[in-house]
Amino acid sequence: MERIADGIYYIGVNDHQLDLFEGQYIVPDGMAYNSYVIVDEKIAVMDCVGSDFADEWLGKLEEVLDGRTPDYLIVQHMEPDHSANLTVFTERYPEAQVIGTIGAFNMMQNYFGTRFAGRSRIVKDGETLSLGTHELTFLTAPLVHWPEVMFTYDATAKVLFSADAFGKFGALDVDQPWDCEARRYYFGIVGKFGKNVQAALAKLDGRDIEAVCPLHGPILSEDLDHYFGQYRTWSSYGVETPGVLIAYTSVYGHTKEAVAFLEEKLLEKGCPRVVVTDLARDDQAEAVEDAFRHGVLVLATTTYNGGFFPPMHDFINHLIDHAFQNRLVAFMENGSWMPAAAKGMRALMEQCAGIEFAEHGVTVKGALDDASRAQIDALAEELAARF
Ligand code: FEO
Repeated sequence: MERIADGIYYIGVNDHQLDLFEGQYIVPDGMAYNSYVIVDEKIAVMDCVGSDFADEWLGKLEEVLDGRTPDYLIVQHMEPDHSANLTVFTERYPEAQVIGTIGAFNMMQNYFGTRFAGRSRIVKDGETLSLGTHELTFLTAPLVHWPEVMFTYDATAKVLFSADAFGKFGALDVDQPWDCEARRYYFGIVGKFGKNVQAALAKLDGRDIEAVCPLHGPILSEDLDHYFGQYRTWSSYGVETPGVLIAYTSVYGHTKEAVAFLEEKLLEKGCPRVVVTDLARDDQAEAVEDAFRHGVLVLATTTYNGGFFPPMHDFINHLIDHAFQNRLVAFMENGSWMPAAAKGMRALMEQCAGIEFAEHGVTVKGALDDASRAQIDALAEELAARF
């Protein structure tokens, strides 16, 4: 059994069988569904785990319980990766009370056909629960990631149970840096809801936090300023790393060649960092996080069916869906007889707030030539001047 702090134990599981998290995100290093137990005069279980892991989870729980029974199941988030075993738990422990927000109980009705009448406790923002020594405060965190979400702060242990916030892709038995997969997770899951994340963070001001226990990813107990700093930057749509993302598609390699030329020119002219992604072949969720990470985005694609290439459509739609904003954006288009991609891309990108469009653009008519190379040089000059 894994002890997190005085009286707090980890009972989560690792999933290495999952093909796509939430039906869309690749998770090459698996996924962790975290759950915790607080053992005190009363015993509280913090959330459940995914549907395939009931036996493993309950086995770990029983080991921690050591013959006792839980008094509470605290439901911070109703998404099925955390709530699927709710009725399995309530049937096994019929005396346990279920605690959650009104939104959580509405979802329980939808998912399980019951609000657990007679054994439910609906909590509001700021409400408290004493387990004996551990004093819990429930803090609603709507839309981080669903509307019913709440955090739980244990003032005694100085532990924040943060629901999906501060989570990441990847199972806990895989050692990997936090930032990259936490960023991909953040922008994929809650990127659109920056204001809500900021409101939730504001509720933590002045609270002494020594460890963060999220529902995915590792427990964070060192260098917390870094993780909170990242969340402040991401939720305010700030630039995390100075640099340029070039997101492109290429049919016969000519647009790819133009992108490589732009990359070379940007670096030559002093741009601190250039990241290049092939939208037809690379993970688009990774491309989305890189777009949010950097301050400058170049979109390069082919004219296609009078518009532009489908993977670029998908990418721009992802950006719009996730509230991409406050960035400098430039366009490179390729078109053998009637280039139209830049106009189409710009029309879509105008839906994003606070976008500045670069003065220079690039049109390649089939293959690079002196004219298009000169355009790329001018664009690189304009973008590099920003650093
Ligand atoms: Fe980890 Fe929003 O569920």
